[in-house]
Amino acid sequence: MDKFVINGGNRLKGTLSVSGAKNASLPLMAAALLAPGKHEISNVPELRDVRTMAHLLRITGAKVELLDHTLFMDTEPCTFWEAPYELVKTMRASIYVLGPLLARFGKARVSLPGGCAWGPRPVDLHLMGMEKLGANLELSGGYINAEAKQLHGARINFKIQSVGATGNIMMAAVLAKGTTLLQNAAAEPEMAALADYLNAMGAKIHGAGTDRIEIEGVSELKPANFRNIPDRIEAGTLLVAAAITGSELTLNNLRVDHIEAVIDTLEQAGYTLKAAENSVTLSSTGRPLPVDIRTAPFPGFPTDMQAQWIALMSLADGSCTITDTIYHDRFTHVAELKRLGADIQVEGNTAFVRGANKLQGAPVMSTDLRASACLILAGLAAEGRTDLSRVYHIDRGYERIEQRLRSIGAEIWREDEPMQT
Ligand code: EPZ
Repeated sequence: MDKFVINGGNRLKGTLSVSGAKNASLPLMAAALLAPGKHEISNVPELRDVRTMAHLLRITGAKVELLDHTLFMDTEPCTFWEAPYELVKTMRASIYVLGPLLARFGKARVSLPGGCAWGPRPVDLHLMGMEKLGANLELSGGYINAEAKQLHGARINFKIQSVGATGNIMMAAVLAKGTTLLQNAAAEPEMAALADYLNAMGAKIHGAGTDRIEIEGVSELKPANFRNIPDRIEAGTLLVAAAITGSELTLNNLRVDHIEAVIDTLEQAGYTLKAAENSVTLSSTGRPLPVDIRTAPFPGFPTDMQAQWIALMSLADGSCTITDTIYHDRFTHVAELKRLGADIQVEGNTAFVRGANKLQGAPVMSTDLRASACLILAGLAAEGRTDLSRVYHIDRGYERIEQRLRSIGAEIWREDEPMQT
C-alpha cells in the first residue's frame, strides 16, 4: 500500500487543467451497453474506478480500452448480463449496469452493493424504479435478479433525489415501450451529460439537468461518440487547495456553472475568484472567514465537497457549522483532522468547527475518497510533515494528484508503505 508524504506550508502558484468527471464517466460507460457497437468517450480520467467499470464491462463481453484519456469500447460482443460481487463490492457505482443490462437482455443479475466507509447506502430507489418499469426483481444470495420481457413507460416519483437511481432508471427507460416521467429526479450535471450521450445514440430524453425528466422510449439505439464533462468536485478540491495554502491558482477546462455554490462559498470566506466560462482564478488575502454550509443536491453545496470545506474551516478566523443533509454520518475525516490539531465536534450530521491558528503535521489515515482529499488539503497547510496512509482511496477519484500538486509548488510525494504487521 502507498502513502503520501507532505511537507506543509508552501504557497502554491500556477495553472492546472481539470480532469474529466469521474461521476459522469461511470454511467456513461454503462450506457454504452445499450447500443451494440463501437463507442468513443473522450476526456475520461485515468482512475481506479474507471478501470473497475471497464473490467465490469469486459465481464459482460465488451471490449474496452482506455488510451490517453479516451475510452474505445465495442459493446457488440456483450452476451453476459451479470455484475459479480467481487467487483461490485469494490465500487458501488457498478450498480449502473443494472438498467442497461435489463433493457438490452431482458434480464440482469447484479450484486447488491455493500455499505461504504461512512455507512449504509441503500439502493431501494433503483429497485423501485425498475419495478415501476415492469421488471420482476428477486433479491437472493446478495444479488438482484431482475427479469423483464418488455420494460414499459411509467411515472416515477423519487421520495429523495438520487443521482444513481436517476441515471439507472433513465438508462432502463430509453428502450422501454412508451414514455417515462421522472419526478424529483437528480439535477446533477452528470445526469445531463448522461442524457446528452443517450440522445446522441438516438434516445429521446427531455429535461435532464432538472428535477423533471421525460424519456420517450425508442426501439433501438446506435453507438455514438461523446466528450465527457469536467470534474466539478476535482475543480472544487483544487480551489480549496489554493485557498487553504494562501495561494493563487488558475484552473482551466472546467465548467464554472457546475461549481457556482462552491465559488460563492469561497467568496463568502474572503477569497477573490475571477471566473470565465471554462476557467477560474482564485487568489487569497489571508485566513478564511468562517462560513456555515449545509450540503444539498445540485445546484446546492455538494456533499462531495463537505470534507474539503471542513479542512479549510479548521483554519478559519472564527467558528462555523457544517451540516451534511445527504449523508448524515459522512465525518470519518474529522478524527484524523483532529490529529493535526483541528478543533471540531460532531453532533448528529453537523460538525462544529472552531478555527485554529495553525495545524501541525502528523501521521493520518485515509478512510474514503473525499476524506483523503480533505487530509491532503490539511497536510498542505499544516506546519511540518504529514504522512497520509492508504492512498489507494485517493487514486479512485483524483488522477496523479500528487504530481499535479507538485507542479504548482506543493511538497508531496508517494512512498511505498510497508504492510502493517
Ligand atoms: C453519487 O452517489 C456520487 N457517486 C457520490 O459521490 C455522491 O456523494 C452522491 O451521488 C450524492 O451526490 C457517483 O456518482 C459514482 P445518491 P449515489 O443516490 O448515486 C440515498 C464521490 O465521492 N439513497 O444521489 O450513490 C443515499 O443514501 C461519491 O465521488 C437512498 O436512500 O448517491 C443518500 O442519502 C461518494 N436510496 C441520498 O439518497 C437509494 O436507492 C443521495 O444518494 C439511493 C440513494
